[in-house]
Amino acid sequence: MFGRQYPGFFITIEGGEGVGKTTSSTYIKSWLEQHGMDYVHTREPGGTPLAEKIRELLLGHSEEAVAASTELLLMFAARAQHLDQVIIPALKVGKVVLCDRFTDATYAYQGAGRGLSNEHIATLEQLVQGDFRPDLTILLDLPVVTGMTRVRQRGELDRFEQEALTFFERVRTAYLERATQFSNQYVVVDAAPALADVQATIDSILHRRLSVYAGE
Ligand SMILES: Nc1ncnc2c1ncn2[C@@H]1O[C@H](COP(=O)(O)OP(=O)(O)OP(=O)(O)O)[C@@H](O)[C@H]1O
Ligand SMILES: [Mg+2]
Repeated sequence: MFGRQYPGFFITIEGGEGVGKTTSSTYIKSWLEQHGMDYVHTREPGGTPLAEKIRELLLGHSEEAVAASTELLLMFAARAQHLDQVIIPALKVGKVVLCDRFTDATYAYQGAGRGLSNEHIATLEQLVQGDFRPDLTILLDLPVVTGMTRVRQRGELDRFEQEALTFFERVRTAYLERATQFSNQYVVVDAAPALADVQATIDSILHRRLSVYAGE
């Protein structure tokens, strides 16, 4: 068995706003295709019709202030559905699952960003996931201002993207701390260089971690 609990392999892509998660996901998808691997590409919050409705609630602009604990519970509600309907079934049949954000984002945004306690998040993590964790988390790291500049060039900002710079500094720091704490799970990639260089780094990570799986 290659993954820890299932025959498949679970990759998550993390990082702050505009670091290049979606761009890198597209690259990883083509890498998996080239290496003949069966994969599912998905994202959080979202990934199923119901969870995508929760995503709209979370990212949309609301007349009503959203309590931090409401946000946290909605994140885990969407995740429970996503795990049940998409992630676990794919891993059970040996697929690679590639997910744009997962529970590490909850620790970074709702924990460090909003100030909710890690203990409360860990309780929900245990409830929804048990001991299930990603096999590999690729953390794209970038100075906050650089990421925000990339996002602004892309267009209209969502509810999170409108937060202050200090919020995103806390998010970045929390991600880097988790990468140190969970060094077996994480690989940190400097997302500042040109796209081709970032992709070359990701290519070597995938070769290292998926070569057995790719039959190399
Ligand atoms: N290495 C890079 N150098 C320069 N620009 C980049 C690089 N990687 C991505 N970009 C550009 O930065 C913008 C943000 O990238 P992308 O949408 O992939 O980030 P993201 O992390 O998915 O953002 P979000 O947090 O909003 O989901 C895009 O316009 C993308 O083309
Ligand atoms: Mg994205």
